[in-house]
Amino acid sequence: MLIRRAKKEDYAAFAGIESQHPGFPAWGIAGFEGEERNRNSVTLAAELDGAVAGFINFWVLRPQVQFNTLAVEKRFLRRGVAKALMGKMAEYAAKSLCREIDLEVNERNAAAIALYAALGFEQVGRRPKFYDNADAALLMRKVLPAKE
Ligand SMILES: CC(C)(COP(=O)(O)OP(=O)(O)OC[C@H]1O[C@@H](n2cnc3c(N)ncnc32)[C@H](O)[C@@H]1OP(=O)(O)O)[C@@H](O)C(=O)NCCC(=O)NCCS
Repeated sequence: MLIRRAKKEDYAAFAGIESQHPGFPAWGIAGFEGEERNRNSVTLAAELDGAVAGFINFWVLRPQVQFNTLAVEKRFLRRGVAKALMGKMAEYAAKSLCREIDLEVNERNAAAIALYAALGFEQVGRRPKFYDNADAALLMRKVLPAKE
């Protein structure tokens, strides 16, 4: 698996992946393009078997990383793509001397919550009616070890 910085040419594939997941708060091509104007924003692509298999976006806001979005192509689910993308985000966080990674997740999204818990994120709060459809969000955080 290859994890690399996303390019403009990836955005159509990202939007295609978003559309495979009903209820997912999709950014669309314009959303990914907009992130190029934010110098704190990092978008990464995962490639598997020569295809775009997933993406992640986060903001490096030292001392925090704010994780924004992540999705994986349906045919590549449960092959470690999300874990690899999250791992690369953690590398960026460590290199940027960040101390924690924060995220919001729909409390109905059992797959994502299981992923984050498996990676050491813990629930630190809950926001009722956070999403447009009035679903609640869980706030989750991973504290990173201090650098020597
Ligand atoms: C959540 C999502 C990103 C997981 O991607 P993935 O590449 O399939 O996840 P991984 O293969 O890296 O899984 C790593 C671990 O997370 C957990 N996990 C992932 N998907 C899971 C599921 N459907 N049910 C339970 N646990 C799950 C497991 O612990 C898994 O390890 P295992 O496969 O050894 O049991 C994917 O289901 C997805 O794209 N969902 C739609 C978009 C979304 O909800 N994004 C997150 C919110 S922004």
